[in-house]
Amino acid sequence: MTDNSLPRILGTDVGAIAEAASRLQQGGLVALPTETVYGLAARADQAEAVAAIYRAKGRPDFNPLIVHVPDLAAAEALVLLDDRARDLAQAFWPGPLTIVLPKRDDAQLAAAVTAGLPTVAIRCPAHPVMRAVLQASGLPLAAPSANRSGGVSPTSAAHVADSLGARVEMIVDGGTCPAGIESTIVALRDSGWQVLRPGPVTQEDLAAVLGQGGSVASGEKIEAPGQMTSHYAPGKPVRLNAAQKAADEFFIGFGDVEADYQLSRSGDLAEAAARLYDALHASAHVALPKVAVAPIPESGMGVAINDRLRRAAAPV
Ligand code: TXA
Ligand code: MG
Repeated sequence: MTDNSLPRILGTDVGAIAEAASRLQQGGLVALPTETVYGLAARADQAEAVAAIYRAKGRPDFNPLIVHVPDLAAAEALVLLDDRARDLAQAFWPGPLTIVLPKRDDAQLAAAVTAGLPTVAIRCPAHPVMRAVLQASGLPLAAPSANRSGGVSPTSAAHVADSLGARVEMIVDGGTCPAGIESTIVALRDSGWQVLRPGPVTQEDLAAVLGQGGSVASGEKIEAPGQMTSHYAPGKPVRLNAAQKAADEFFIGFGDVEADYQLSRSGDLAEAAARLYDALHASAHVALPKVAVAPIPESGMGVAINDRLRRAAAPV
């Protein structure tokens, strides 16, 4: 007897990769590990498959999806790359950078992927399991983070199962995601470039390739439609920049402090990013009714961590 209330968890052996790829070819939904977070993948060229992503997540249909490709050649079939885009791809692909580019007229993409926008958010991921499935399926894969819309993003197979349950039939378990925070999203404009979502590739990393003149989309204005203010919410009040915990708070620490969950005792921002969503998942599961988070420096990866924490703390 199979239990219909639980997704199937697959390993990462050749057989599992082949099975995941074949399910995707048939139009199914498969949760896959990437170097950032787990993605809920479907073939990007089929309307029914893409509609299933929106249904499983409870995602509003005006919020477009990121398209994942195995290499630059596959990207060329979908979007128009200028010199700056090529320089970015050269510097950061495969890796945690998503580039928003004009969609080609002949791109084989379901309309819902871009939610009617003339642009496509495209990324070539580095995770070996995601890359193996992309190659085995031979398809571009649309994949948002594999959580219910507005919830905390998943960095383990257990997080995916916890958030989506039977809404996803198959999860490929590749262990914990190494970067732990979603890809940086950059838009290239005639007038310059703009970070729509901070992530593992920092503003300084981008400036080293694109030159100065970049800007960061303000938290107020919704530049990436999915960057709604409240997101990543653990379902309880979150207090930021807390020096210490109150009795009714689950305290997420950073640096040399006593904490219920320590992001990085040594104050390493990459380690903290990798552990951030696990900390938020843990905070949702404890009996304590509130959450407090120690201050995180606003530099390097800290910019992306603080962006996510502000959204986790925003009123729903
Ligand atoms: O690291 C990641 O990017 C993960 C893994 C699975 O690859 N994916 C991810 O997808 O974070 P998602 O759906 O949770 O976030 C995608 C973001 C949303 O904020 C969406 O609005 C934005 O990308 N986006 C998608 N297409 C866009 C476009 N054409 N222009 C501007 N923003 C876009
Ligand atoms: Mg997401």
